[in-house]
This record gives sequence, C-alpha cells and structure tokens, in this order.
Amino acid sequence: MPASSPPVLETENLTIRFGGHVAVDSVSCRYESGSLTAIVGPNGAGKTTYFNMISGQLKASAGQVRLYGNDITGLSAPARTHRGIGRAFQLTNLFPNLSVLENVRLAIQSRRGIGLNLLTRASSFGSLIEEAETLLDRTNLLERAGETAAALPHGGQRRLEVAVLLALEPDVLMFDEPTAGMSADEVPVILDLIREIKGDRTKTVLLVEHKMDVVRSLADRIIVLHNGALVADGPPDEVIASPIVQEAYLGVRKSHA
Ligand SMILES: Nc1ncnc2c1ncn2[C@@H]1O[C@H](COP(=O)(O)OP(=O)(O)OP(=O)(O)O)[C@@H](O)[C@H]1O
Ligand SMILES: [Mg+2]
Repeated sequence: MPASSPPVLETENLTIRFGGHVAVDSVSCRYESGSLTAIVGPNGAGKTTYFNMISGQLKASAGQVRLYGNDITGLSAPARTHRGIGRAFQLTNLFPNLSVLENVRLAIQSRRGIGLNLLTRASSFGSLIEEAETLLDRTNLLERAGETAAALPHGGQRRLEVAVLLALEPDVLMFDEPTAGMSADEVPVILDLIREIKGDRTKTVLLVEHKMDVVRSLADRIIVLHNGALVADGPPDEVIASPIVQEAYLGVRKSHA
C-alpha cells in the first residue's frame, strides 16, 4: 500500500463540549490496521467520550471521524457498526434471555443480512450454527452454548460479548476497560482473546485500560488523554516513562489508590 493511503481510522480535531466544558479537545490521531493502541489517562480525561464519538453514541461538536478516509462523523451508531466499527459495551449488547448460541447466531445473521424468513435456506442456517460454534469455541463458551446469556457468570458474559463482537467481523474493535469488574482468573482469558485479535493484521484495536501492566503487555502504542487533550503518543515504554505520564497520569492514579 502506498504511504499516502488513508489509515483505517482517523480522528481529526475531534471535539465535544458539554455546556462550557470541553470533554474531548481537538484530538487528532491515526490508527493503522494490525495495531493495538492503548488510550490512557486519569478518570474524567475523556477516554470514554472519545470512544463514544468514534462509535457514534455521541455527536462531535467539531472535527471529523474518518474510516478508510471517508468522513463518517455524521453517521448513526448502527451505520458505523455496519461500516466496520465494533465496540464491546458493558454487556448491553447481549440478549440475556436468549441462549449463548442464539446471541452469537443473531450477530452473524445481522452481519450477513439474513432475515428470519421462510425463504432462508436450511443450509445457510447450518453454516450459521457452525460459525457460531467456532466463535464460542474461541471464546471458551462452547460447553455453555445452550444456557441463557443471563445464566453465565460475569466473566462468561464478557467473553460472550467478545464472541458477539467477533461475529460482526468489524475492522476496528474498541474495548473500554474490558477487564473491569472481572475476577483474577477471568482477566487472562479476556486478555488472551484481545491478544489473539491483535495478531490478526487486518484488525485495528483501540483499548482503554487503566492497568499499566496490561497496557504494557498488549499495546504497540499508547496515547494519553488529559483534560480531553492528547498529550502524549508513542511506543509504550517511552510514553509510560515520559514526565507527563509520570506526573499527570500516574500521579493522579496514585491519589485514587
Ligand atoms: N453526557 C455527558 N454530559 C455532560 N458531561 C459529560 C457527559 N459525558 C461525559 N461527560 C464529562 O466528560 C468528561 C470526560 O468523561 P469520560 O467518561 O469520557 O472520562 P474517562 O476518561 O472515560 O474517565 P474514566 O477513566 O473514569 O472512565 C468528564 O468530565 C465527564 O463528566
Ligand atoms: Mg471511561
């Protein structure tokens, strides 16, 4: 690919104001495929708000979000999902009363655009189930395929959420504190999944994470948001060692401990 080709995802001067408060302040950043970028910063720095503007939950006050060079700033969240931006929400995209398998099947179906009509061929249903089972195997949920999503423990539900996300085959995958609220034995499972996704060179991963050991082990690059502004961007070791992170980020985190 020529060097001039647009990145998978790009935000340019992306800004949002709530009343007089600038929550995300003119953030310009490019994300290339095959990369995992960690977004760090103190509580209230604007990380989730930045994600919300990329995935379409919030409309930017100014600036642009571009996917493969196309301006998607005006698109709805579902339209962005359709274009390839996938976001793991905190369990809000699961159907609790449907089975684990059904949750994944519906996501595959929505991607393939297959309606639940009588014309749907049995063979396509067979392949749907097969694909769903492959994803459940990958997320370590195959044995629980028949249970309702609600019956899974918290960590299992988070893994199911990743299975649903993968079923949509997004090009961009966004994780906002994916290990929050997880027990110690569940954390490595979700991190291994993210590592595996990162290994797919066609995927672009954005990860908001407070735990620096997790960030260090997964990220190719770290960007730091502080008071809504991008204040550092570079290789993990360099950014973590930078004075701005040591003072502005780690200093603030210490006061929360
Ligand atoms: N819908 C909203 N209306 C008004 N203010 C908001 C709204 N959403 C976020 N904010 C404000 O924007 C700022 C950034 O919040 P955000 O949730 O993005 O921070 P964060 O970096 O994700 O923090 P944390 O690490 O605690 O999750 C905060 O001051 C927050 O109060
Ligand atoms: Mg947040």
